[in-house]
Amino acid sequence: MKTILEKIDGTPADEERILHAGRILRAGGLVAFPTETVYGLGGDALNPDSSRKIYEAKGRPSDNPLIVHVCRWEDVSYIAEDPTGRGKLLADAFWPGPLTMILPKKDTVPMETTGGLDTVAVRLPSHPAARRLIRAAGGYVAAPSANTSGKPSPTTAQYVAEDMDGRIEMILDGGTVGIGLESTIVDLTGKRPVILRPGYVTQRMLEEVLEGVELDRTILEGNAVGRPKAPGMKYRHYAPKGDLAIVEGPVDTVLSYINGQCALCAEKGEKTGVIGTDETAGRYRADSVKSVGSRADEEAIAHSLYRILREFDDEGVQVMYSEAFSSDGMGQAIMNRLLKAAGHRVIRLDEDGARRMEEKMKIALGSDHGGYELKKEVIRWLEEHGYECVDYGCNSTASCDYPDFGRAAAEAVASGVCEKGIVICTTGIGISIVANKVKGIRCALCADTVTARLTREHNDANMLAMGAGIVGRNLALGIVEAFFGTEFSGEEKHARRIGKIEA
Ligand code: TXA
Ligand code: MG
Repeated sequence: MKTILEKIDGTPADEERILHAGRILRAGGLVAFPTETVYGLGGDALNPDSSRKIYEAKGRPSDNPLIVHVCRWEDVSYIAEDPTGRGKLLADAFWPGPLTMILPKKDTVPMETTGGLDTVAVRLPSHPAARRLIRAAGGYVAAPSANTSGKPSPTTAQYVAEDMDGRIEMILDGGTVGIGLESTIVDLTGKRPVILRPGYVTQRMLEEVLEGVELDRTILEGNAVGRPKAPGMKYRHYAPKGDLAIVEGPVDTVLSYINGQCALCAEKGEKTGVIGTDETAGRYRADSVKSVGSRADEEAIAHSLYRILREFDDEGVQVMYSEAFSSDGMGQAIMNRLLKAAGHRVIRLDEDGARRMEEKMKIALGSDHGGYELKKEVIRWLEEHGYECVDYGCNSTASCDYPDFGRAAAEAVASGVCEKGIVICTTGIGISIVANKVKGIRCALCADTVTARLTREHNDANMLAMGAGIVGRNLALGIVEAFFGTEFSGEEKHARRIGKIEA
């Protein structure tokens, strides 16, 4: 497919281009267009085929729902309910603008658009060309960010073209977007409003209009294990090609740590990159140093973050460090995206003399009497290898019921208190069944190291079950090592299948 590139430059000629784009959308085609947040990849939201095409073009799992863009609040009632009236209040306060709300959907919206959910995300963007396009397309445009899955959302038409050329009918080039991070998403379908994705519209701003706005816990703790309510938040997004770590601590300590690490990388011949600020960028020594702007100017930081991540990719940078930012207000959105890009690798440095305190991964443990002795060995091994263990019992070899302890450990993992878990009973079977009954748990019973590795790669298993009567101590520790030493592959097909488990 040949992708048409059209400029939108505020001249009267725009109108014809936008009408053309609108015709493409009405006919079931795809058009990428600028919004005030990031570029969107638009299709007719009421046409299931268009939604299918969007997933295909993005290479995105089809259980990840799309945002329906409208051009007037009045149009929302055709596709969604607003039973509490909170939608109207937020629309009055923040629309048009970078806020998406989740509302109960009506039958007019195909399940393909909402990834099978009975709720729908709606947003009225403030970008004038976007609104004109939505009107020209018939009023309802489904649009995820116009990147391929796993890339940062595009902030220029150039970036859209890099990802989408040949896959869609048209790209409307409206220059660089204003905000640079995706819209705030607030879920209005529960008792209290919950922010599922932080953005330009902050918790504080929402609280001025609605009472009791909560922040989805998984956003800040950021473990991949809790169950984020926005399905899209569970996938590893925005991932740069190189390894990124965030370094937090007093400025001078951060500077000398990063410079030290970059020097080590240089010795190994690895290309390094640093995300600093106007205040510090000149003091870093790395192959590529980029400033996201002045630390005081969060809007500027939001604006450049995705561009910088893409630039590092283009430059082939292999190891990247970034300074940390405040997690208040708009900083919350910035840190949320940065943490995702870094796969939540944060290096915390303390006040005196750069002592390095890597964040320890917390592991929940549970066993019955049959698994008690092996659990002690496993805990010893984990602690020696830098993990923090939380033991949910049992505490002796006296006969007890495995469901009590298997469930406690699984709930610790599901709620995000611990990132992963290990459960042990005599065969491992009973306790793995218990763990798998807890929502969000993928507990794999392993008796060899190959399975332990593959279940991480393919199933992103968040718990490991072992049978103390089946595997001996050495094999058990080998299994633990294989399990914790393996990352989820992140492959689309595996993510899709996991999505089907969680659905
Ligand atoms: O700023 C933005 O919102 C951009 C521009 C183009 O408007 N769009 C965007 O869309 O970021 P996307 O698809 O990349 O992100 C939408 C997020 C996903 O994480 C998705 O899981 C979540 O919204 N979402 C959509 N519908 C939902 C629903 N019914 N319930 C919960 N989460 C939903
Ligand atoms: Mg996106």
